[in-house]
Amino acid sequence: MVEDQHYIIGKPGMVSCPFGDKLQTFWDLRYEYFELFDYGIMVDRNGLISAKPERVSNELASRIRGDRVLDAFTGLGMSAIACARAGKQVVCIDTSAERIELAKHNAKIYGIQDNLTFITGDPRHIMREAKQREFDAVILDPPYNAIQEVKNSLITLDDFSPPAHQLLQAAASCASQIAFLIPLDFDLNQLKRFAHHIQIDDAIVGDDVRYRTAILWN
Ligand SMILES: C[S@@+](CC[C@H](N)C(=O)[O-])C[C@H]1O[C@@H](n2cnc3c(N)ncnc32)[C@H](O)[C@@H]1O
Repeated sequence: MVEDQHYIIGKPGMVSCPFGDKLQTFWDLRYEYFELFDYGIMVDRNGLISAKPERVSNELASRIRGDRVLDAFTGLGMSAIACARAGKQVVCIDTSAERIELAKHNAKIYGIQDNLTFITGDPRHIMREAKQREFDAVILDPPYNAIQEVKNSLITLDDFSPPAHQLLQAAASCASQIAFLIPLDFDLNQLKRFAHHIQIDDAIVGDDVRYRTAILWN
């Protein structure tokens, strides 16, 4: 893949954000997202915005029981790379073929590409076609409609794309554990019908809770 205006290849000395001033705050956090950023990590604009600190992804990986993981919204590959570094085998899915290429490249930088399999496609189809308990865990990190935040109401399953009730049902059909990355203002009551047991993990950055994961067990 050739570097162009859409993709940036990390290297030392890139102080100004190549995606423009508006994303400088995200750019300044690049080493928290990827410790190996300067070794050639590839990012695009949307991937940078939806990135999570590597420490948070490593904590998520440590919560996952078992070795067979499906990462249904792979993006730049942070959750998948963290799971692979913890010794798990990960099937990585994204609807964007370009994102899958970025994640594949980033996995090579971390030297764990042999633990990962990449698929471009709709994760709902792949989960529904998988065997019962084919995976130990599914990671769901779907995009959601942030306009709800402006409306000052709680985020619901319908605000995710695809709608998260479809994702949770499909994930429960192929794994006993689901790690669902949710916004802090998500309505947790909505999860009760999808699991026997639910655990909420909050990740603190600085003094504040910044990231939340619901771990669902069936
Ligand atoms: C919040 S990001 C995931 C970030 C990822 N966990 C990471 O570690 O970089 C959401 C991803 O979902 C992908 N996506 C959007 N709609 C999708 C869909 N219907 N099915 C699968 N992936 C989708 C986007 O391409 C994007 O990469």
